[in-house]
Amino acid sequence: MIKKGIILAGGMGTRMSPLTIAVNKQLLPLYDKPLIYYPLSVLMLAGIKKFLIIVNKGQLNQFRKILPEKNNLGLSIEYKEQQKPGGLPQAFTIGEKFIGKDSVSLILGDNFFYGQSLTKILKKNVHLSSGAKIFVHPVKNPNLYGVATLNQKKKVIKLVEKPKKTRSNYAVTGLYFFDNKVVELTKKLKPSKRGELEIIDLLNLYKRKNRLKAEFIGRGGSWLDAGNISDFYNASNFISAIENRQGLKVACLEEIALNNNWINKNQINQAINFYGKCDYSKYLKSLIA
Ligand code: DAU
Repeated sequence: MIKKGIILAGGMGTRMSPLTIAVNKQLLPLYDKPLIYYPLSVLMLAGIKKFLIIVNKGQLNQFRKILPEKNNLGLSIEYKEQQKPGGLPQAFTIGEKFIGKDSVSLILGDNFFYGQSLTKILKKNVHLSSGAKIFVHPVKNPNLYGVATLNQKKKVIKLVEKPKKTRSNYAVTGLYFFDNKVVELTKKLKPSKRGELEIIDLLNLYKRKNRLKAEFIGRGGSWLDAGNISDFYNASNFISAIENRQGLKVACLEEIALNNNWINKNQINQAINFYGKCDYSKYLKSLIA
């Protein structure tokens, strides 16, 4: 059972410059909340309460302001700085102490997931005790992502990072579940040609040992990597459309915590004081009315 989650919220955000010169990408507003709320909400929906958030050097206080260690969400939140963006698997060496003897999930701070069966899929897979699990989703432009080729039995037969040519349209999303071997295996990785440790190389180590499985986020689910301007605004418009139609919020962290019985009315009231007079607080009020 995975009880811990790492959110990788560093990176240079170069593809979104100049928006990301003064502000970390994960703190930019995705419609009505900071981007980081969305990946955090995904792991909370999986039932995860213990978090390590990895941020760029010097940006800790920006994140602490919005997601303090002492929070109204019933979560344990720790922070660590990444000295410079050296690749996604660094999450597991930076997080070695946090992981301890447990299995762990990793979510990229710019990934957005939404869909009716999402919670069901997460809850089913969070029971992982050995091996690794990736979550794949069909896309029109697979060459922008890690790509998985699967056989008819849905077994992963090939994994490539941003291939120039591929026959598969399954992107490997930025959500990963790993057993405790992940730390040891990360230490075996060598930087790629672009000078970074690659998550695909790490996953290939699991694949070679037949310990990698894939789960589908099917057509009923949505996944967007909000790491470029166009997808960022697509995600923003998507959230706006859903929230304004339903009157329900996507990724309201307090709502998830309340539904999971991690907090009660008191913390919701404290959260309302924390956010001040705004639509988000109005929504929180409606949850306990
Ligand atoms: O979004 C899914 C894709 O994410 C996968 O399909 C790819 O296999 C995977 O490599 C990754 O590709 P990206 O090109 O999107 O990765 P990017 O460098 O943009 O980093 C993703 C997030 O992780 C971003 O929010 C910044 C953060 N990050 C990244 C690196 C390299 C860090 O915090 N530290 C880092 O060292």
